[in-house]
Amino acid sequence: GSPLRVALLGCGVVGTEVARGILTNPIDLEARVGAPLELVGVAVRDLATERDPVVPRDLLTTDAEALVDRADLVVEVMGGIEPARSLILRALRGGAAVVTANKALLAERGPELFEAADAAGVDLSFEAAVAGAIPIVRPIRESLAGDHVRRVLGIVNGTTNYVLDRMTTEGLDLDEAVAQAQALGYAEADPTADVDGFDAAAKAAILASLAFHTRVSIDQVAREGIRGITADDVAWAARTGHVIKLLAVAEVIGPVDDGEVSVRVHPALVPVSHPLATVRDAFNAVFVEAQGAGPLMFYGQGAGGRPTASAVLGDVVSAARRRLTGGQGLRESKDQDFPVLPAEAAITRY
Ligand code: NDP
Ligand code: HSE
Repeated sequence: GSPLRVALLGCGVVGTEVARGILTNPIDLEARVGAPLELVGVAVRDLATERDPVVPRDLLTTDAEALVDRADLVVEVMGGIEPARSLILRALRGGAAVVTANKALLAERGPELFEAADAAGVDLSFEAAVAGAIPIVRPIRESLAGDHVRRVLGIVNGTTNYVLDRMTTEGLDLDEAVAQAQALGYAEADPTADVDGFDAAAKAAILASLAFHTRVSIDQVAREGIRGITADDVAWAARTGHVIKLLAVAEVIGPVDDGEVSVRVHPALVPVSHPLATVRDAFNAVFVEAQGAGPLMFYGQGAGGRPTASAVLGDVVSAARRRLTGGQGLRESKDQDFPVLPAEAAITRY
């Protein structure tokens, strides 16, 4: 078939690996999609920045709007609210499918974006926005669509897990460990988003919205990050047989068809015998409890360029296939089953 034109918005930690995936695996992706994927441009802020040679310089542009206008499929990995929001809306309204890893944007402005996708009849996919490489969005959205999810709980921020791990195992202080997480490409552009729990809260809001067929925005998530955790806290936890983990919890309280939703992010003492205690480095782990399925566990790399690009590229292949076959993609649920109430007080022991 004729090539599908892909526009990449952002060429940082994730964007570079997405470009590598498209440019160095063209035959694989063509076979999987059923047509070639042509990377038509890469939008960046600064053309003079030195970049990985995998990205041809003649693909770089600072005119993201013009790039969006000539794409069938737009991959947004620039981050932040603006101009990412306007560019995604422009792409959707122009009929392009969009793949994004931008949890901050989805948790703040998700409904507006999904309505635009619905109106245009195109896909807006976001597997990479929650828990890096781990397939968790699609399983909750699709595989569990015939079940009642009651609870989603786990570690959804790689940076804070890495930081707490290094504080525990190497005695690093918080700032030293955050600097390492930045160097490894795990942290957000402003690592405050990780340390103070905003990133985990955005992911919790997305997971709760999917799991409970409702709308939860980031400002409805009770949030406490790890900034206040000291070396003494970590040592005390170890002496008492625990590790400290930043947990995200989303659950239905009360009857399953008439419940309330509680969504929260906070540090918790996890017994060393619990599976969550074994989650090291920037790995994530998510437990899902559904009425029919019972308990499910998802585990893998929660941050970093290549793991995240794996999830992005999966969405690219799926969206490209649907585009070629003319199939309708999944649309955001319109259900408003549950009233969203302020979160319960944090439960600090699991
Ligand atoms: P980086 O900061 O490494 O890269 C951002 C890229 O976007 C840069 O190339 C930058 O250009 C470009 N960019 C930013 N603002 C603009 C703008 N206004 N116009 C044009 N280009 C712009 O971020 P990451 O790759 O780490 O993250 C990207 C997205 O992926 C974020 O939404 C993040 O939350 C999400 N994500 C990140 C993960 C990770 O592990 N890093 C994991 C999962 C999701 P320039 O290079 O010129 O500065
Ligand atoms: N900064 C995020 C994290 C990237 O550390 O989990 C993955 O979403």
